[in-house]
Amino acid sequence: MNRFPITTLTEGNSGLQLEAVALADIAARFGTPTYVYSRAALESAWREWSAALAGRDTLICYAVKANSNLGVLNVFARLGAGFDILSGGELSRVLAAGGSAGKVVFSGVGKSRAEMQQALRAGVRCLNLESPAELDRLESVAAEMNVRAPIAFRVNPNVDPKTHPYISTGLRDNKFGVAFEDALALYRKAAASKHLKVSGIACHIGSQLLDPAPMAEAAAKLRGLVEKLAAEGIVLEHIDLGGGLGIRYDDEVPPSMRDYTAPLLATMEGRKEQLCFEPGRSLVGNAGLLLTQVEYLKHGSSKNFAIVDAAMNDLVRPALYDAYHQMVAVKASTTPAQRYEIVGPICESGDFLGHDRELALAEGDLIAILSAGAYGMAMSSNYNTRGRCAEVMVDGDKVHLVRQRESIESLYALESILP
Ligand code: LLP
Repeated sequence: MNRFPITTLTEGNSGLQLEAVALADIAARFGTPTYVYSRAALESAWREWSAALAGRDTLICYAVKANSNLGVLNVFARLGAGFDILSGGELSRVLAAGGSAGKVVFSGVGKSRAEMQQALRAGVRCLNLESPAELDRLESVAAEMNVRAPIAFRVNPNVDPKTHPYISTGLRDNKFGVAFEDALALYRKAAASKHLKVSGIACHIGSQLLDPAPMAEAAAKLRGLVEKLAAEGIVLEHIDLGGGLGIRYDDEVPPSMRDYTAPLLATMEGRKEQLCFEPGRSLVGNAGLLLTQVEYLKHGSSKNFAIVDAAMNDLVRPALYDAYHQMVAVKASTTPAQRYEIVGPICESGDFLGHDRELALAEGDLIAILSAGAYGMAMSSNYNTRGRCAEVMVDGDKVHLVRQRESIESLYALESILP
């Protein structure tokens, strides 16, 4: 096993480096906190996914919600990716980054009329519907626009993905998808509409899946449904098996993309529909880190605190899911290692990035918070009027600024005072 879950991260003479660039140089040039991505790691994750699916008609739709930076989207667009979006905003980003609408699938339980119109105007590949009410709304929007909307139903297979409850989505009690038992009737209704075109079926059961079995179980259920539909003459173009493949944060051993997809491909053996996948985390999670600097060391009576310049507004996963991210000092230090609570400057006890981490630190030292490429910047906020991080992408020995650090003025530029 590599020492680091990020395979393009190594220890060089001037401390940690991503590809050929020292993290200390990035901090000196762009400041901290800064999200740092590796183009090579993005591309190698993509290649691993493509290789696992080789020989089968498939479309990989990168789940934009994991990391929606235009630079990241553009790397995938150049590789021919499709995109899974959750909002009109994400659609605009995909198009601005050079993605093609014809390869976009639109997921989500709450699409507004405006978002439906935007998607139909752009010519997305498919809208994944999650309720009977959404079906009615889309039909009326498509009728108004005098177009035929391509649709799939996201069905809820009621399998337990065995992951964190906040990120499991395929159980009966979740808000996601249409009930398995209702799907057939909904497909009949859609097939009879002259403003809807039945295009596929979709399923996503949860995120950070470390066991391929629940998704394989869901796929088998899906196949049963696809066959029932075919028997009624409702023929689909694609079967969308969602995202969810987990990554290594600590010492987890997630399945390889091949091991994750093999049972799914086997379940769909002999079916002619294109297979779509919506991976997010497994494409970007271990292609990014958050670079932060120690502001203060504070030695309490029972705990030591390292107060760093990144906070829960920059990376909320530890506070929200109690998620673990490895932390590594960017340069070896001569100070003795101690156990630290790694916390940010925000006025909340929940503002921690890691508990009980053994690190050798001095004020001013840099720490790399690993596996932060997915759901890091994408979930960040401006809480405490903190401008969001800069984002940079390393490509070999070059570094590109892919998002400027937010200025403080920009944070209140849309606000006004009373006359
Ligand atoms: N497709 C759909 C319909 C989804 O809801 C999701 C994620 C994905 C694809 C991508 O799943 P992935 O391959 O990234 O697991 N914020 C949480 C994760 C939320 C995932 C939501 N849906 C976290 O930081 O762990």
